[in-house]
Amino acid sequence: IISAQVIMKPHCVLGLATGSSPIGTYKQLIEWYNKGDLDFARVMSINLDEYKGLSPENPQSYRYFMNTHLFHKININHANTYVPNGTEPDAEKACQAYNELLHKIGPADIQILGLGHDGHIGFNEPGTSFDSVTHMIELKESTRQDNARLFFDGKIDEVPTHAITMGISNILQAKKVLLVACGENKAQPIKVLVEGEKTTDVPASALQDHNDVVVIVDKAAASLLTK
Ligand code: GLP
Repeated sequence: IISAQVIMKPHCVLGLATGSSPIGTYKQLIEWYNKGDLDFARVMSINLDEYKGLSPENPQSYRYFMNTHLFHKININHANTYVPNGTEPDAEKACQAYNELLHKIGPADIQILGLGHDGHIGFNEPGTSFDSVTHMIELKESTRQDNARLFFDGKIDEVPTHAITMGISNILQAKKVLLVACGENKAQPIKVLVEGEKTTDVPASALQDHNDVVVIVDKAAASLLTK
């Protein structure tokens, strides 16, 4: 789906995500780029979120993740890749700047999403308003615990307490949404997203209001679906 988008519209805007879920997707795109099938020279990208306080050089930052897992391995113009600024001391200013950017270059033609075990998308934790735009959020302890595995020695103390994230309404503006979820701990939010009632307790359920969402799951993540 993503490669078709890049071929059909070489100047498309890709909404990108971090986490373990999209790593295989990025590997596949890099492989096709290396084969000469994809050209990212005119593509622009907007990422969902960034930890507050982590610089682009910090290997735990989402900017660093995107550079190493995708941007440095394809011919995208680095100046056309955007991630919220986690090091701006005035978070309000960083959020406003990102909202303005999204207005200017968005909406994304495709937004890729992973899924938190509590149903979060980007870093929009349960309870976040569906009308939200880019904002700073305090991360739930369980989210920090989950993400600790990706930090150096896997300790929760190393995971920042806050992040800047696109809001749910920014995400809903994408023309198409592609959500990838694997593993048993995603089964409950997948059930609510696909078969349940829309509720701010499960932020991903906001996607029920979008008219073009593709949900890709493995058997474990699909295990609670009944229909
Ligand atoms: C983080 C990111 C989310 C991501 C989630 C799930 O919280 N902010 O965008 O979807 O992790 O990560 P994983 O794909 O590793 O399960």
